[in-house]
Amino acid sequence: MAVSIKSAHDIEGMRLAGRLASEVLDFIAPYVKPGVTTEEIDRLCHDYMVNVQQTIPAPLNYCPPGYTPYPKSVCTSVNHQVCHGVPGPKVLKSGDILNVDVTVIKDGYHGDTSRMFYVGPASVGAQRLCEITHACMWKGIEQVAPGRTLGDIGHAIQRHAEANGCSVVREFCGHGIGKVFHEDPQVLHYGRPGTGMRLSPGMTFTIEPMINAGRPEVRELADGWTIVTKDHSLSAQWEHTVLVTQEGFEVLTVSPGSPDWQRCQGAAVDATMAS
Ligand code: MF3
Ligand code: CO
Ligand code: CO
Repeated sequence: MAVSIKSAHDIEGMRLAGRLASEVLDFIAPYVKPGVTTEEIDRLCHDYMVNVQQTIPAPLNYCPPGYTPYPKSVCTSVNHQVCHGVPGPKVLKSGDILNVDVTVIKDGYHGDTSRMFYVGPASVGAQRLCEITHACMWKGIEQVAPGRTLGDIGHAIQRHAEANGCSVVREFCGHGIGKVFHEDPQVLHYGRPGTGMRLSPGMTFTIEPMINAGRPEVRELADGWTIVTKDHSLSAQWEHTVLVTQEGFEVLTVSPGSPDWQRCQGAAVDATMAS
């Protein structure tokens, strides 16, 4: 229940794990092309993690209470799949949008990050959803500073999504992370400003909004993992692992190919400007 505060040593470990997770996404980006299957993407990522990085793919055999062991090393969620898409023989085609979600373990520490990829040219609507979702994640990250609350993060995300006619998935959330994959606190992607836990330096957690073009409701497929939108509308997700610093935030899942690397350290935004 108590939220762990990371030591300087822990933070060094989290920086390394975060960079390595992001580098898996850099590595896989050029392979995301029409004709590739999601299980080929999984295999390429798995081999890179295990053989090149010497990291452990945290999803493989991950088994939270009430689940069957996750059978693959990354999650690949296509189009109306919201999250936890299980890689398989599905062939990606031009116009698809794909989320690849990578979690590595290095020296006992977890780094967790995901990005959206366009498979060939995406429709204007699909691009718009992916861009809105990326902005939602960043509106959340920019709230992170000592004294701010989890509700501030959730509110910033929800407000931007709904202002753009999109909806926030409620059933899944960001999470504390460190030596444990999913630990307290739960980081909801909706909420009220000033509510919920207050942030302190040394906390590490993910911000990973799942935003739907249509209605927010989701359902789980028979594989026991893959989550899809009930109305089959498109869904997008971006994820970073973030550290609360004295000044504001540091994004830990950053690497040379991060599309947003230049924004990864920041001071608190003014509370009134942010609202
Ligand atoms: N990486 C996901 C997250 O962001 C969790 C995936 S759990 C798995 O929390 F078992 F599906 F891999
Ligand atoms: Co993830
Ligand atoms: Co996560």
